[in-house]
Amino acid sequence: MHHPLIALDFAHQETSEDAKLAWRLMFSPHSWKGHRATDKVAAHYSQSTYISPKNVPHNTSLFFSGRSALKALLTALQLPSGSSVAVQGFTCAAVTLPILSCGLNIRYVDINEDDFSMRLNHLESLYNPCIKVLILQHSFGIVPKYRGEIIAFCSKHNIFLIEDLAHGYMPNTLIAPDLGDRYCALVSFGRSKLFSSVFGAGVITPSIQLHDLLQKASSNLPQAPKRLIVRCLLYKGIAPFIKLWYHRGGRIFHRLLLWMQLFPPEITRIEKDGQYDASYAYAYPEVLAHTLHLQLSKKETLLTQITAAIGEYRKHVPQISRFPSPPLNRLPLLAPHSERRTHILRHFRLQNIFLGTWYKEPVGPERLDLAAMQYEKGSCPTSENVGTRIINLPLNVSQKTAEHIGLEIQLLLLTP
Ligand SMILES: Cc1ncc(COP(=O)(O)O)c(C=O)c1O
Repeated sequence: MHHPLIALDFAHQETSEDAKLAWRLMFSPHSWKGHRATDKVAAHYSQSTYISPKNVPHNTSLFFSGRSALKALLTALQLPSGSSVAVQGFTCAAVTLPILSCGLNIRYVDINEDDFSMRLNHLESLYNPCIKVLILQHSFGIVPKYRGEIIAFCSKHNIFLIEDLAHGYMPNTLIAPDLGDRYCALVSFGRSKLFSSVFGAGVITPSIQLHDLLQKASSNLPQAPKRLIVRCLLYKGIAPFIKLWYHRGGRIFHRLLLWMQLFPPEITRIEKDGQYDASYAYAYPEVLAHTLHLQLSKKETLLTQITAAIGEYRKHVPQISRFPSPPLNRLPLLAPHSERRTHILRHFRLQNIFLGTWYKEPVGPERLDLAAMQYEKGSCPTSENVGTRIINLPLNVSQKTAEHIGLEIQLLLLTP
């Protein structure tokens, strides 16, 4: 049975409507100028019901990538030398590289098997006063089950909290923590996120002083090269057609475009080699904000689809954790062991369904030098174990496709 391509790591949220807009923007020079769309995106995040409860005004600064946003943020915090940042194992280089490039140390906290986020008692056990910042990652968009306790922990120890919402979206059932100026949220509009402009990110904070510093940092960054922006628009303009025609030449065409390096890589070679790469450190381009705005305008439809897909998967795969609820960008599931995971991934790959494996290592992507990331082998055993078993299911799919994947996964899980 041949489906159009379903690949969590390739343009999973791009539709023909996004493609049409990308082509139109490519040839409308006026939409590259000004800041109408960037202002709209910043306002969207600043005014989210989650971020701005009860008249606490927040402001958003935009960047070309979450990594460059994180670097600007950590620089703006002016931490004393020898400071550490607490980060969960089961994260990615986009989080750790900016920390290390600022000369800071990383303390890795292990995760829980059900929410894939920080384990409270491990965090408490490794506390020391050098920890000045904590990054609370909402893995896959799941609200961490110890979020309340971790916010209280930050408040007690005077730790600056970065709530990393890169994978998901503003969970509107929650309220922003009351940490005063010692709080910000990080959002990303990278291509593997829920809403994408291929690259892009924002930092949302109630601190006027921090916001000013971030605005200054963002305006000091160079403009993204035109060639890079065109490559992002081409990605949006071509990807939906590659997906649709994958089994009829789309695959070969995709390979050809990759070989020509037409699409900018999500992670650069320098990053894979364990170095922060400033080649994605730019201001957020106006024209990309137009593409993000289109996706944000279809938010409700997307969230309804995700809810339906999660419901369908749950019907067939009872092993799915009870925690995940939308907005999520992928649905995590644990195979009993790594061989079964390999088997499941292969089974679906033959149907042009490429499931995800965020994250195979305590710091992804695979083959990153973990020692260079200051990760000590064995220090986060659950992260390491989960990394050998994790599978991510796609959520930008119809209920019928979710049913198909769910039924087959259940059979594959049950087969001895
Ligand atoms: C947990 C997490 N935080 C932040 C980021 C930063 O995103 P980017 O630099 O791709 O915008 C990523 C990237 O994948 C991520 O996985």
